[in-house]
Amino acid sequence: MSLHPDLKSILVSEAEIQQRVQSLAAQISQDYAHVGGELYLVGILKGAFIFLADLARRLQLPHHVDFMAVSSYGATAHSGEVRVIMDLREPIEGKHVILVEDIVDTGKTLNYLYKTLLGRKPASLRTCTFVRKLRPSLDVPVDYLGFEIPDVWVVGYGLDYADKHRTLPFIAELEPHVYSKPT
Ligand code: PRP
Repeated sequence: MSLHPDLKSILVSEAEIQQRVQSLAAQISQDYAHVGGELYLVGILKGAFIFLADLARRLQLPHHVDFMAVSSYGATAHSGEVRVIMDLREPIEGKHVILVEDIVDTGKTLNYLYKTLLGRKPASLRTCTFVRKLRPSLDVPVDYLGFEIPDVWVVGYGLDYADKHRTLPFIAELEPHVYSKPT
């Protein structure tokens, strides 16, 4: 199969992803098996929707799914302030919550959301992120992690470049010429 010209190489294959998501789901199912009440999965749009869909369908325990969306303001993509632009439909007070993200890059988004959700007094709050970049980031707790990846621009499995390549079943590194030219 030939790669799209925007893509340099595949970093994590579809088979590796599916295997890892299965083991994360098994781990979460085990960890929450004896917790009273149902689990609430909170996915962060847009990036987390594919990971969350695969993870949720493999959980072996009752759970709810809800979503939030945030926006970053600032000179560059992740430099600015984070703001909630779409909130949860249900209160999470007294619930066991897992915040599900596609990527931790600077850590700004997860850090902000973690504090925001903690302020709503859930019974417990953990985080699950599909990938985390190997780079300095804010010290934010990641309880369940899919993969550590190099500090390069990646797309696929929910991750995009200018809203492109989000639905690829694998994670690929973008060719530098793609993001160094104006979109
Ligand atoms: C991406 C990703 C995370 C965030 C991580 O969202 O989905 O939410 O960036 O970056 P950080 O660790 O530097 O804060 P993006 O703003 O690209 O929106 P999208 O998910 O809608 O594509």
